[in-house]
This record gives sequence, C-alpha cells and structure tokens, in this order.
Amino acid sequence: MSLAGPGLPIGILAELTHRCTLQCAYCSNPLELLKADRELGTDDWVSIFRQAADLGILQVHLSGGEPTLRRDLPTLIETLAARGVYTNLITAGVGVDAPLVETLRAAGLDHVQISFQGARPETTELIGRLKGAHERKLAAARAVRDAGLPLTVNAPIHRHNIDEVELFIELALELGAERLEIANVQYYGWALLNRATLMPSRAALERQIAVVEAARERLRGVLAIDFVAPDYYARYPKACMGGWARDAFMITPDGTAMPCHGAASIPHLVFDNAARVPLADIWARSPAFEAYRGTAWMKEPCRSCDRREIDFGGCRCQAMMLAGDAAATDPACSLSPLNDRINAIARDEAQGEAPPFRYRRIGAAREPA
Ligand code: SF4
Ligand code: FES
Repeated sequence: MSLAGPGLPIGILAELTHRCTLQCAYCSNPLELLKADRELGTDDWVSIFRQAADLGILQVHLSGGEPTLRRDLPTLIETLAARGVYTNLITAGVGVDAPLVETLRAAGLDHVQISFQGARPETTELIGRLKGAHERKLAAARAVRDAGLPLTVNAPIHRHNIDEVELFIELALELGAERLEIANVQYYGWALLNRATLMPSRAALERQIAVVEAARERLRGVLAIDFVAPDYYARYPKACMGGWARDAFMITPDGTAMPCHGAASIPHLVFDNAARVPLADIWARSPAFEAYRGTAWMKEPCRSCDRREIDFGGCRCQAMMLAGDAAATDPACSLSPLNDRINAIARDEAQGEAPPFRYRRIGAAREPA
C-alpha cells in the first residue's frame, strides 16, 4: 500500500486489558482504568492485528494490565504469528505457569518480558501488593527459559528499590535472561500520583549509574543492559515513543488508538477507535496522530535546536502536565524555561519523607490521599 505523508509504522503496543494481578503504584495505565466489560472481543483484536500485518507492522507488544488474563491470548498470538509479526508478551509473570508458556510458545510467541518489582521478595510484595508474587515470577521466568523463549527482565526503578540494582543484575544472570531493562519510572498516570514517594535522590541515581556502567562493561556479550534515565534528572529528554506517531503507536483495551500512553491527558485531542476505523486511516489521517508528528508544530527552543530530530522535543504529555501546553518543550530538557522547576520538584520530593503508596486499582485515584 502507499501512504502519502507519514512513513509506515513498525510497532504497536496492544494493551489487551487493564485487569491485573498486581497493584503497582507506578503503573503506566490511566487513572481511570477500564473494566472488563469495556474490553474489545477476540474478533475485533483479530481484525486489528490482521490490518496491522497488512500495514507492515513488524512487532506487537502484548501488554496490559496483565495480558495473560485474556483467555484468547493464544488465538491473538496465532493471528500475528501466522502473518509473520514478531510478538512480545509483557507480563508481570504471576499466574504464568509452564503449561501456559508452552501453549503460547506453540501459538508462535517470540519473546517474553517479565517485570520484577524488586530483586528481593519483600520488595516485590510491597510494591506489587501480592504475597508470594516474587516466587511466582521466578517460576514463570524459569518456565520461559525452559521453553526456549528469550527473556527480558524488566526492573522499574524508584526510591524504594534503587539500591537493589546490583541484585537485579544478579537475578537476570541467574534466570538466564538475554536482556535486563533498568527503567527508571516515568511520572505519568499512577506514577505521577505517587511521585513524592517514588522520586529517588540524585545521589542514589549516581550510585545506580555507576553500578550499571560497571556491569555493562563486565557483562558485555553475556547480558544486554538497557538503561532508561529518570526524566527529572536528565539533561535532555527522551524521544518519547521514538517521536509522536513516527513509527509506533498504542491501542487501549477498548480499541482507542493513541500515539502514546498519556495522550488522553491532552484535552483537545480526539481519538479514533481501531474497532471502527481502519488502522491505515488512523495512521495516515487521525488528527490526534497528525497533531505533533514531525517538527512543524514546535515552538522555541525546540524549533531551532540541533536535537529536534533526535528527541522530537521530548514528551508531549509531560509538556502538557508540567507546562500546560502540549506543544511546549518538555520541561525535562535543560533548555526548557521550566527545567529549574522540575529540578526543584525532584530535589524536594526526594528529600521529603516518602508518603504511603496509592496503589493502582479501579476507583483508587478518586479517593482522598
Ligand atoms: Fe530536544 Fe527541544 Fe530540548 Fe532541543 S530544546 S534538546 S529539541 S527538547
Ligand atoms: Fe505521550 Fe510521552 S507519554 S508523548
């Protein structure tokens, strides 16, 4: 097919459900979680995934919530695998046993990413709020490796586990993972609500970076370690989603197609539903996808900056949240006039006493702190 304007997308993050076995206080799902009765059915997802393959999508990340709570997961994987699309299951691992792994492998699953809330059982239980979660994750990871599937260990990092980074590296090695993601929490959704308890100090961040750099050197060719820096301490922002509607997008459990996780927080954007509008049309013509695509929408200092096609001005949703303008430079950038403000937020919150977690569950965000 030919599309005028944007290039073709290569990846989709498919959030199949917001249901989850855990209640992590930094979840990237929206504060208003969708109940099971709002989820698309199997036929809709199959149709979307067939269209995705026709559009040239190379990889689909099957996520949630907890995607293994969808009974039709093997069917969805089969649909994608039959069309040669690479599938990555993003799971918390709780409830993923050897028979399920074997079923998913047989359906054509290519890769599994399991998140660990802590490198120690007590940390995993505190953050995910589920007794016995750590052991169940270890069993899931072993089942993945026993099935011959490649494994990534994902470690979301914040104040309560930043000193476990060395242990996360040992854990990934012990589990035979190919890759470890040391991903400092980004402050959207539930993480923004819990920012004051999650924010690490700069000193802890510097210790973490030293550990990661030494391990990368020591484990070259053994374990790939990805590192996602925390926005609030960065010099330059990340290229969120690799640039707005540039080569990837996401679909929520009810079929809403959005350029990124947080796009619903930008009030003037209107989104199409992938169960009703063809995916190719959404990609090429959705006004929400067009809004911040490329660089023409940029204001100064991004407009004349050498990095504008490297980080695409950072994160639009963070600009909306912190600057009140989705077209502003991401305040995480040291060139933003608001950068001092987020540095001060990070310093003050990291120094303050950590408030209790507000755990992720339906309705919790509307309750008083
Ligand atoms: Fe990126 Fe804009 Fe900052 Fe330049 S000014 S580094 S383009 S966010
Ligand atoms: Fe929306 Fe970063 S989360 S652009």
